[in-house]
Amino acid sequence: MTTRTSAVVWEDHTDLVVIGGGVAGLTAARAASRRGMRVLTVSKGGPTDTSTQYAQGGIAVVAPQGDTVDAHVADTVAAGGGLCDDDAVRSIVSAGPDAVAALRDLGAVFDTGRDGDVARTREGGHSIRRIIHAGGDATGAEIQRALGAAGLPVLFGAAAARILTDDAGVTGVLVFDEHGAGVVHAPAVLLATGGLGQLYACSTNPPGATADGIALAFAAGAGIADLEFVQFHPTVLFAAGGMGRRPLISEAVRGEGARLVDSRGESVTGGVHPLGDLAPRDVVSRAIARRLADLGEDHVFLDARHLDGFATRFPTITALCADAGLDPAHDLLPVAPAAHYSCGGVVTDIHGRTRIPGLYAAGEVARTGLHGANRLASNSLLEGLVLGERAGIAAAVERTGLRVEATDALPPVLPRLDRDVLQRLMTRHASVVRDADGLAAASATLGAAPNSTCIDLPLLEDAALTVTARALVAAAERRTESRGCHTRSDHPEPHPGQAHSLEMRLGLAGDTVVTTPQLTGAN
Ligand code: FAD
Ligand code: SIN
Repeated sequence: MTTRTSAVVWEDHTDLVVIGGGVAGLTAARAASRRGMRVLTVSKGGPTDTSTQYAQGGIAVVAPQGDTVDAHVADTVAAGGGLCDDDAVRSIVSAGPDAVAALRDLGAVFDTGRDGDVARTREGGHSIRRIIHAGGDATGAEIQRALGAAGLPVLFGAAAARILTDDAGVTGVLVFDEHGAGVVHAPAVLLATGGLGQLYACSTNPPGATADGIALAFAAGAGIADLEFVQFHPTVLFAAGGMGRRPLISEAVRGEGARLVDSRGESVTGGVHPLGDLAPRDVVSRAIARRLADLGEDHVFLDARHLDGFATRFPTITALCADAGLDPAHDLLPVAPAAHYSCGGVVTDIHGRTRIPGLYAAGEVARTGLHGANRLASNSLLEGLVLGERAGIAAAVERTGLRVEATDALPPVLPRLDRDVLQRLMTRHASVVRDADGLAAASATLGAAPNSTCIDLPLLEDAALTVTARALVAAAERRTESRGCHTRSDHPEPHPGQAHSLEMRLGLAGDTVVTTPQLTGAN
């Protein structure tokens, strides 16, 4: 998309604009249209330019036998490092089986075992095998296919640039597409823009994971929380100098028995956690980071050579390894942690409502309280399905039929760093292990970023990353403790006075982040 104009050249009217065409956006759009709303879904990429498309391991959902809602809740809360909202966890986990049933009604096909029942695997932090999967390790592609086949209209190549509001709430969205800048007038907007992996030099996320929804919500006045909790996936295929989107080796590979070893063949997680290689993701990534620092190396290895039928169970990963000249049946797989998932985001209730009337959020961009300080594996597709449905229904119930007046639709003026500079800065100072000096250096560079008028997609994306990085680093500086996937080498323990989330909003100066409540014990 090459829009380079600030003049509005087209207008449209609808009841609900959904921003994003992944699991959360398409589920929400479907729920709202089934309740009679006129829905316009916009996606800046194509039909498969989503994190959803790449999801491998599966969906965590309470199994009909040998499992309970209580057990899934307990595993989620244990992984969440004391920051989960217990009511949100229970509500979302309880809704899982119905959400998956709805997806199957839509035509999604999940793998079955020899007995014909849905097959279930295990991943880090889960006490039992409850993860359902499709195509072996192509769960996300099957979800994207099934939701895409539902025939919802989506405007591809259309980027939301600004949420328009007046004193009563949302009035529409400024959109850039191939025709130029346009305004869609609508009383409801639902953010389903996915994650922020592109803040870092290496990530499992697609190129479009540039935190746009965080920046859009911030500018509209919504609250943001838990941004400091970025989940680094422990087993991302390593290549010297490899940058950008890197291939994931699913945690389900360890669930089926693969082991993490260092260059000497020694276990990386032995003695670190009772669940060993299947400890929660933050624990495993930290163990790898420590081992790499001790050995002065840049990757460890995943040993899956002893697993039977690897290529059948994990066809996607087998192909990704083949592209790198590796055969999991014969080779140790070089792996290292890389940015994977944003546990924080736009603050919502369990129906996807933000504090701005008419603004909803669902999926990875939202912070419902399900994940706390560290997401339990495969809980995000679950959340996308449940919150997508609920937010779509909430918008239909609360905003249908409301008329909105046109509001000012100027392009946003936001601080912006060059993408390469920003990714190197964040990778150096705000990755798996952080400290005060590094965070202060990051903060100084981010704080000096000049303002840009964002009149095309690259400018918008770089600005969204810069705004989000500022907030993330500010939160990480204030959180002078280690908790979940936020690890401070200068504050290695959790601090009892910091066992709560920080909510941030833009200050009156436009770029000042304010926090409520303040963390105690911070210095
Ligand atoms: P996405 O699927 O990322 O969709 C975001 C959409 O927003 C895209 O259509 C994008 O184009 C659009 N968009 C963004 N900004 C704008 C804008 N400004 N204007 C218009 N459109 C915009 N989770 C699990 O639960 N289980 C797994 O097995 C699993 N495996 C994973 C494997 C990988 C490699 C990755 C990257 C993630 C994995 N996750 C997994 C996480 C999970 O896939 C994601 O959290 C989830 O799919 C996010 O869905 P979403 O709908 O919120 O966003
Ligand atoms: C994986 O398959 O390891 C990723 C699962 C997830 O991110 O939930």
